[in-house]
Amino acid sequence: MRTVIYYFTGTGNSLAAAKKVAASLGDTEIVPIAAFRDATGEISPDAERVGIVCPVYFSGLPAMAASFAERLDLTGADYAFSVVTHGGGGGSAALRQLDGILKEKAGRGLDAGFAVSMPGNYILMYESPAGEKRDGLLAAADADLEAIAGRIGQGERVNLPNSPVARLVKALMYPRFRSRVHGEDRKFTVSERCTSCGTCARLCPAGNIEMVGGRPVWNHRCELCCGCIHLCPVEAIQAGKATEGRQRYRNPSVGIAELERRQEDEP
Ligand SMILES: Cc1cc2nc3c(=O)[nH]c(=O)nc-3n(C[C@H](O)[C@H](O)[C@H](O)COP(=O)(O)O)c2cc1C
Repeated sequence: MRTVIYYFTGTGNSLAAAKKVAASLGDTEIVPIAAFRDATGEISPDAERVGIVCPVYFSGLPAMAASFAERLDLTGADYAFSVVTHGGGGGSAALRQLDGILKEKAGRGLDAGFAVSMPGNYILMYESPAGEKRDGLLAAADADLEAIAGRIGQGERVNLPNSPVARLVKALMYPRFRSRVHGEDRKFTVSERCTSCGTCARLCPAGNIEMVGGRPVWNHRCELCCGCIHLCPVEAIQAGKATEGRQRYRNPSVGIAELERRQEDEP
């Protein structure tokens, strides 16, 4: 059965999850949601099985993933699934948001949805886990993903998880996030440490960063994925004082070059 998995990622967790599921399913194309960002119109996947893999933001979907889902026509798919990665909670509300968007678009929602706990990357609020804690989380996520891929491979119908707490948190926080997200880059600054390598510009899934005079300039189409902050090789990018001393994070099974290349792929 041919499968296409669409993914959105900032620091690699969701791409690592997509790769893991793809390896288990076989005959799977992995396509970045970012590749569709500048186009409009309907997206009709040429596959019997369709997956969407993305992080949880404020107990909901990244803005770009939500807009993508609004364009996705799943009427031709036999099986649709989603895996959301998160740092602690809110996955059920994000999955239900996705299911609702898909149903509204084409009267056809998810057949299965899963939330997988991975290292949190919201560096504006907290430090990502490191060392043994990070490794433990990733090992547990790997085991979860293996089981999830098995269930997807069997075509299992899986009820979406439900959490009243996640619903409440989403109701309280997500609308504010969505209304402000693209301008959150106004908090971002670059220090003298910048070597003008352009990594930040190449890996930004929103294509939001331009190099001007050898320095990144953010153009207010930010998704707040935090990729530029985490993945700058010399940690020259900050979002205020809070991020200055905080450990950076990248999923170790995804390389920088892979993130850069993936974001540039054509649909
Ligand atoms: C803007 C933002 C908001 C986030 N909100 C949540 C959240 O509500 N709940 C949660 O558990 N993790 C949250 N996280 C953590 C990410 O969902 C988690 O680290 C995810 O695995 C990152 O995936 P990626 O590496 O593919 O970008 C948030 C991260 C960011 C950047």
